[in-house]
Amino acid sequence: MLPINLLKTSTFRLAVLYLGLFAASAIMLLAYVYWNTAGFLVRQTDEAVQAEITGLAEQYSQGGLPLLVHTVIQRSRDPGQSLYLVLDPDGRVLAGNLDVRPTTTPGADGWMDFIYSRRGLEGVEMKAARARAFYLPEGFYLLVGRDVQERREIESLITNALVWAIALTLALGLVGGLFMSRNMLARVDEINTSSQDIMRGDLSRRLPIAGTGDELDQLGRNLNAMLDQIEALMIGMRQVTDNVAHDLRSPLNRMRNRLEVTLLQDMSPDEYRQVLERTIAEADHLLTTFNALLMIARAEAGSLRESMTNVDPAMILRDAAELYEPVAEESGCMLAIKAEDGLLVRGNRELLSQIITNLIDNAIKHGKPVAAPVAGEGEDASLPVPLPVIEVKAERLGDGRVEISVADHGPGIPSDQYGKVLERFVRLESSRNTPGSGLGLSLVSAVARLHGGYIFFSDNNPGLKVTLSLPAVSR
Ligand SMILES: Nc1ncnc2c1ncn2[C@@H]1O[C@H](COP(=O)(O)OP(=O)(O)OP(=O)(O)O)[C@@H](O)[C@H]1O
Ligand SMILES: [Mg+2]
Repeated sequence: MLPINLLKTSTFRLAVLYLGLFAASAIMLLAYVYWNTAGFLVRQTDEAVQAEITGLAEQYSQGGLPLLVHTVIQRSRDPGQSLYLVLDPDGRVLAGNLDVRPTTTPGADGWMDFIYSRRGLEGVEMKAARARAFYLPEGFYLLVGRDVQERREIESLITNALVWAIALTLALGLVGGLFMSRNMLARVDEINTSSQDIMRGDLSRRLPIAGTGDELDQLGRNLNAMLDQIEALMIGMRQVTDNVAHDLRSPLNRMRNRLEVTLLQDMSPDEYRQVLERTIAEADHLLTTFNALLMIARAEAGSLRESMTNVDPAMILRDAAELYEPVAEESGCMLAIKAEDGLLVRGNRELLSQIITNLIDNAIKHGKPVAAPVAGEGEDASLPVPLPVIEVKAERLGDGRVEISVADHGPGIPSDQYGKVLERFVRLESSRNTPGSGLGLSLVSAVARLHGGYIFFSDNNPGLKVTLSLPAVSR
């Protein structure tokens, strides 16, 4: 990774900005600390010297030079940090604990900082001092000051500590910023590499998730979910085009060939009519298949989720039953609707109606009882034989789901074929003689999934019960 890359990252820029702000506030804080410690020491020294000057000035005004010299001699015996010097006009020492008059010229504020020597236990020591000096009438010289050696040492300790603190803060902040951006950049690099692979066509590839649960992870997860969706759509599309290619092309070819052969033959108008009628029937079948395929693709695409509304399953069941009652009667069975009132699911009305009619259609078409019920021996043979009943139910389950079921008394589906019949174009051997393309249940399962539900089969003893389970909308 090039450092230049690192400098360009927004994390690094943010880190630097943050560092700048942080350093500024740290410096302000430390300046405050300095003013309160070292600055306080300076002010305290100056105030102490000033107080002493005031005291000596009082002595001088009361008792003149003799009292002043006397006081200075007295104070010099036990001077502590204080420094005194009184000189006569010829420069001779009259009193005080300084040996010589400092040569430094005072600053504009009247203070002077100088070095003086003092004989200590370990020989002569050079020490820092700060003082003010005055000329008294007749040329006498008075100096009052303080030894500031210790204070200077403390001051430089504090200054050093503060400078180090600032330097360390900056260094640590910079290292932290670099580390953070490097880390971040490494992960962004990984995401970039993965997305390039994906763009090159490896749609099964997913972005790496570090597992930290931070924003990058969140982003990765969302993008991965998006990729899942895109992949599912692509697979769905491919399936539809495959299906169209395989399952619509051959019937279309067959139809075309038959028409060609018919044209080559000399036939009566009646015979032509028959061929045309058959062709129309086949074209209808093709259209139905085509529509079913498209509807499955639409359901699988999931884009219909936006158009969902609250739907009452009981209404759909009643509408479908009304539509299918005549068909059922014609094929010798009855529909019994048992729908709880007040149910509500969120869904696409058109698709839900379509799949319920698919299930009822299946029950009528494939669910005829194998042997018609025979009137019992003792019974009157003239009594009407009860028609087989197809039960269509909608009920609410305790766990917040709605179950819609269609149950017949026909031959049923062997349980090992339950999964198989949901696949496209799958029709069981026993249904070869009934019309259909084997797409009805595929649509039911696709629409169930679109609605956040699922379907399952069970044995109706005898017969098949297909149950559609959907999440209920609570009122
Ligand atoms: N109620 C049922 N009883 C017995 N078998 C059934 C029942 N419903 C479906 N099947 C079996 O499952 C197969 C698939 O059903 P599906 O509804 O997908 O297709 P289809 O009814 O044959 O054709 P289409 O619905 O496209 O007109 C059927 O061909 C049939 O063999
Ligand atoms: Mg069907």
